Amino acid sequence: MRLRPTLLLVIASVAALGASRPAARTVHHLAPLVRADTNARVRDSLMNDVLQKIEGKENLPADSVFKNIKLFKGRPAGQLLRIMNGGWGRSLGVGCAHCHVVGEWDKEDKVQKQIARDMSAMVAQINAQLLPAIKNLKSERPIVNCTTCHRGDVKPALNLAADPPR
Ligand code: HEC
Ligand code: HEC
Repeated sequence: MRLRPTLLLVIASVAALGASRPAARTVHHLAPLVRADTNARVRDSLMNDVLQKIEGKENLPADSVFKNIKLFKGRPAGQLLRIMNGGWGRSLGVGCAHCHVVGEWDKEDKVQKQIARDMSAMVAQINAQLLPAIKNLKSERPIVNCTTCHRGDVKPALNLAADPPR
């Protein structure tokens, strides 16, 4: 067998790699913590469409630029769009269409839109009241946000993934 020395060399170098880089081997077995955000590109382009339409008004209060604002009153219009995209959309791993009929942004066609407002109120209450009432936490100001629970998914997990193979 002419191949055998080469094969041995390969095995030896793989073993050496493994020995010198144990961390790399551990990482190999870990399941991805967050799903790939496959909706990101479409979201970016829809956000940019709206940003273009409101050009020059990005820093005006959202309620003076948009039609149906309850939550973001007084916050900059451009910031609302960045939160829709990089905050909520990314946290839940969804496109704009999860909460909106695309283009009909002011309408209340989808229940998810109001749920998002209610979730936001829940997060505010956790951060303002419930967490500060817990003593002896490590952080001076511990907080949660959408990602804390959603981690790229619409439905937060109740169980951890199965243990990786050992
Ligand atoms: C998780 C749900 C959710 C996602 C995802 C989402 N939105 Fe929204 N969107 C809302 C809510 C809730 C409001 C109303 C905010 C308020 O009441 O202040 C809103 C309001 C808006 C408005 C203001 C409309 C008006 O005239 O009143 C625009 C524009 C908008 N969204 C664009 C987008 C775009 C673009 C995306 C994707 C990049 C997106 N949204 C993704 C929930 C969502
Ligand atoms: C404390 C954990 C927690 C946090 C923080 C949280 N959520 Fe949720 N969210 C949930 C749970 C639980 C559900 C219900 C899932 C189910 O239907 O079983 C949910 C459902 C939703 C849904 C409905 C999804 C669907 O289409 O069925 C939306 C929209 C949503 N959350 C948006 C948000 C947004 C936006 C934030 C941040 C402002 C947020 N959530 C923060 C726990 C959380």
